[in-house]
Amino acid sequence: EDAAILARFQERIDAEERIEPNDFMPAAYRKTLIRQISQHAHSEIVGMLPEGNWITRAPSLRRKAALLAKVQDECGHGLYLYAAAETLGVSREELIDQLLSGKAKYSSIFNYPTLSWADIGAIGWLVDGAAIMNQIPLCRCSYGPYARAMIRVCKEESFHQRQGYEIMLALVRGSEAQREMAQDALNRWWWPCLMMFGPPDADSRHSEASTRWKIKRFSNDELRQKFVDATVPQARYLGLTIPDPDLRFNEETGHWDYGAIDWEEFRQVIAGNGPCNADRMAARRKAHEDGAWVREAACAHAAKSRVRAAA
Ligand code: ACO
Repeated sequence: EDAAILARFQERIDAEERIEPNDFMPAAYRKTLIRQISQHAHSEIVGMLPEGNWITRAPSLRRKAALLAKVQDECGHGLYLYAAAETLGVSREELIDQLLSGKAKYSSIFNYPTLSWADIGAIGWLVDGAAIMNQIPLCRCSYGPYARAMIRVCKEESFHQRQGYEIMLALVRGSEAQREMAQDALNRWWWPCLMMFGPPDADSRHSEASTRWKIKRFSNDELRQKFVDATVPQARYLGLTIPDPDLRFNEETGHWDYGAIDWEEFRQVIAGNGPCNADRMAARRKAHEDGAWVREAACAHAAKSRVRAAA
């Protein structure tokens, strides 16, 4: 790649111009976008599983309807994101193969179990809350198709976050057992949610390039801090305790200082050794195999339509 062309590309990024699929882009920019967008798509698809687990056990028709809608939204997000990745010249089959063969990553958070109904509240409140914190800046990402996909995704995530918080509110206003269930869910989801933002900045291998290319607008640690600052008052309003004895408001910085994250747990989960990795992959593989007839029928129908159109 010619130095002048690369410099011209960086000038366009610096001028906040959007990069579109047919524009020149450095191979490394394309590669990191395919990596990030496809990991994001896989996360949405695998992310349907922990909550899907509670659709048949939602405590009321209203809760069930909201949860169904939310899980369907996640499927839609996955599909937009696969489509955005496809604009970079990779096929959906390839991406799905990478997921099913265990080569592609998806968010660490979806490898934890949903043990009680309160987990559905905690996921909406915390997991979707963290997702929004990370995704709002992606609406201004330099790659047009990804940035545009994020706008609708963020609107829907915001509904997901509210439905989760509202479940938590109902539980803390309920019986003592319900309040305990809400606290237990917060205890289990808090630390994995902080890990969602990725490794500390010093260990984040892609951050330097992604920031230069304006794919990333904030670092992993900056977003993690914003999330903690936003969530502490919400936990207080619920009357719940964040499971971190070192959590303290720092008058000097104006931020909440938090305790040490167990990065060994994070490494284990992304290496495939989290509590539910094997289950999640088995469920995805089964869904893919069970859906083979639909893909075959759609291809057969498309082939027939082509013949008919040509006749
Ligand atoms: N879970 C799994 N893998 C992770 C996580 C995580 N929570 N955080 C970081 N990683 C991986 C990265 O993918 C990268 O691996 P790779 O080199 O094999 O691709 C490695 O750890 C190093 O991390 P970084 O250099 O910090 O990677 P990056 O610059 O891509 O930043 C981040 C990670 C913040 C997750 C970024 O990719 C991003 O913003 N992605 C889009 C949002 C997203 O995917 N959200 C999914 C969860 S939200 C939801 O689906 C509801």
